[in-house]
Amino acid sequence: MKTLLLIPITLNLISAVRCIIVSEAAAAGANANQTSPPYYPSPWGTGDTAVEWAEAYDKARSFVSKLTLLEKVNLTTGAGWQTERCVGQTGSIPRLGFRSLCLQDSPMGVRNTDYNTAFPGGVTVAATFDRGLMYARGYAMGEEFRDKGVDVQLGPVAGPLGRHPDGGRNWEGFSPDPVLTGIGMAQTIKGIQDAGTIACAKHYILNEQEHFRQGQERGITDGVPVKESLSSNIDDRTMHELYLWPFADAVRAGVGSVMCSYNQINNSYGCQNSAILNHLLKDELGFPGFVLSDWGAHHSGVGSALAGLDMSMPGDTAFNSGASFWGGNLTLAVLNSSVPEWRIDDMAHRIVAAWYKVGRDKTQVPINFDSWTLETNGYEYFFSKEGDSQAIVNQHIDVRRNHRDLVRNVASRGTVLLKNTNNTLPLKNPRFIAIIGQDAGDNAAGPNGCDDRGCGNGTLAQGWGSGTANYPYLITPANAIQNQANEDGAVVQAIFDNNALEKIENVVKQASVALVFVSSDSGEGYITVDGNIGDRNNLTLWHGGEQLVKTASANCNNTIVIMHTVGPVLVDAFVDDPNVTAIVWAGLPGQESGNSIADILYGRVNPGGKSPFTWGKKRGDYGPEIIYRAESAVPQANFEEGVYIDYRAFDKASIDPVFEFGFGLSYTTFAYSNLQIINVKAGPYVPGSGTTDPAPETTNPASDEDLDQYRFPDGAPRIKSYIYPYLPEDASVNAGNDTDSIPTGAYDTSPQPILPAGGAPGGNPSLYDVLYHVTATVTNTGDITGEEVAQLYVSLGGPDDPPVVLRGFERLSIGPKGTTTFAVDLTRRDLANWDVVKQDWVVSERAKTVYVGSSSRKLELKGTIPAVKVVETQ
Ligand code: BGC
Repeated sequence: MKTLLLIPITLNLISAVRCIIVSEAAAAGANANQTSPPYYPSPWGTGDTAVEWAEAYDKARSFVSKLTLLEKVNLTTGAGWQTERCVGQTGSIPRLGFRSLCLQDSPMGVRNTDYNTAFPGGVTVAATFDRGLMYARGYAMGEEFRDKGVDVQLGPVAGPLGRHPDGGRNWEGFSPDPVLTGIGMAQTIKGIQDAGTIACAKHYILNEQEHFRQGQERGITDGVPVKESLSSNIDDRTMHELYLWPFADAVRAGVGSVMCSYNQINNSYGCQNSAILNHLLKDELGFPGFVLSDWGAHHSGVGSALAGLDMSMPGDTAFNSGASFWGGNLTLAVLNSSVPEWRIDDMAHRIVAAWYKVGRDKTQVPINFDSWTLETNGYEYFFSKEGDSQAIVNQHIDVRRNHRDLVRNVASRGTVLLKNTNNTLPLKNPRFIAIIGQDAGDNAAGPNGCDDRGCGNGTLAQGWGSGTANYPYLITPANAIQNQANEDGAVVQAIFDNNALEKIENVVKQASVALVFVSSDSGEGYITVDGNIGDRNNLTLWHGGEQLVKTASANCNNTIVIMHTVGPVLVDAFVDDPNVTAIVWAGLPGQESGNSIADILYGRVNPGGKSPFTWGKKRGDYGPEIIYRAESAVPQANFEEGVYIDYRAFDKASIDPVFEFGFGLSYTTFAYSNLQIINVKAGPYVPGSGTTDPAPETTNPASDEDLDQYRFPDGAPRIKSYIYPYLPEDASVNAGNDTDSIPTGAYDTSPQPILPAGGAPGGNPSLYDVLYHVTATVTNTGDITGEEVAQLYVSLGGPDDPPVVLRGFERLSIGPKGTTTFAVDLTRRDLANWDVVKQDWVVSERAKTVYVGSSSRKLELKGTIPAVKVVETQ
């Protein structure tokens, strides 16, 4: 006899079956207290829609068919915070030699270990606009994770996308432009997974600010007790055209896992929101991999399972509580049928298929590091201090190879030259170099002196939080410049004290060039630095940077400003100062910081990076503010600006930026000519149709006859706070009978309709058909070889469309006076809008304009795609 016992459900709406609901709110815009439509059942992964997944699913099905219920639960639930060695680890299946899966930060290198590489931040690789470098960085990271024994690298990041220029974690991702971020995601994922590690696209979705991402994290603000995480409220069109876009690219690139986020989306938590997990991710985007929760973003047992969550991380409800929404509670929920068996099978299939897809059966090595200590020996179980106290927990394996060369290359290629009066740069053998600013030097406490880089001391080469990696060393700008200056026989005087203004005046007066290093930092909300709770409080330079520049430029008419920042800063105070002869944005370069900036300053590398965001004159120009102070128990972030963030917002409101998106100078110059738009005459759009197979039957149903088989084995050692799959001690499968809270349709196993916009990983394959082939000629009009990021923008032509949106780019290397062809294939998705009524992408009948140029505001070439009668078969 099976009856129902329900584990806490906090679903917001539980009424409709799997059907498409276009609520007025969804079509009309983002409203406070907007709700999230229910979507059930949770799509079952099959691997049928993509050849790359088919074989992995076959193997996964065969493996899972051998598993007991307890073993399946072990795949889905973490062992608890700091219980094992990785930041997250699942249970294991010793009977079949299947080790506990190791999930480890970060998107820029292996976190919390040694002999690893600290790669450049996402924002810097974005600034290269170089697909090859994006892939190479991903591959190199994948190798390092793999060789440390990691199964899942917790990155890359497309959420935050960058709604707010001051959002704390923007730098972990790529850019507020969805196309640039989408390409960054796809290339990084392919790299990581080709190296044999599962990538994780995070944080899904609308995790745009740190304040209130976890309701409790910041407690009371202005007297309002915050009870729940902030809700990002969004309309359906903005979701598709902006925030979901790069996740579609991630899924299309074959990403194995997706991390759901802390925040709520339309007032339903990210890890139990059936609209974003079941509908958008698993159905429309056809995601065959698994969804894991952010650490502590899991809020319900049955509810999250039915809404599409596949893995609970780190497994415990509150860290080290010893309790879990899943673990033994999931075992119970399956036994009493609250969670159908096909759903837990589906979780297991998805996890194991991702594992096979990237070849973990061949590439896995033992976990050879410990996130919680760098000592060689330590307790087997860190949190409980149990097991062998002298276990070898760190083998200090050097996984770096020659990745330092790649780091240096990415960082110099991702450096953006913003101003260069009279070719001040590259430096021409200056006799006396003044190096000014703490951002040029060491952190007195050492490069890893602040946990998770949570301070702003010394040169800034990564932000702070879980998105970091320990430095194996950090080449400071002062070191690298000094090395070159020694070869050149120059004099160097460095002052790292930003308050020593008088001394600075005296030194820069003697200098042939003053190199002023300034910074602006941000990070994850669990660390507050200088009053910044993850998110930046403003866009000004840190440590008195503005005053530093002014002091130097007032005393030296050859002042060069180098900025290490997580995003845009306000430069209005000095950008037009004639004594500031050059400005360089060096982003977050990672461990080779000094070498990469010296390569640019001395002209060993001709700069070709472009800004992956807009530099405004004031914060207000960017639009929506971060919610720093809560006004309600559940803070409501209404994304009322729609698709207008970053350059789209500036362009719409005709606001002049200081430097626009896509802008960046070179030591040479380029010209654009000869735009050609060729209609490739693709076939008509074929909306998805038909139905899926029914839910697969479970091959080894769990029996509820003998409950003792699910209880903690007599006499077995029990590690404190460890999460096990065994039934809770007081559990009874007959404890309740509450079907009312089960969302309608959640248990439906019948074939489900294939969505018009769905059908394969990344959505309907015909969205990626090429409709137009665009070419243009780019000429290097100067005397030295240079690299130019040619860019293609489109105006979709509708009254609600941004003036231009980026749709293609290529980084071209061109010899002196040479020419090359820039080519972009425009796909159907590139030319379409999301139609909220049809629930599909539609290429409108409006004429579209294609622009090619060197930035979002320097669009040298223009052509038209004539208005066409829509031939879509809808
Ligand atoms: C962060 C994630 C990270 C996880 C594990 C969370 O607080 O939001 O990005 O992967 O912790 O460290």
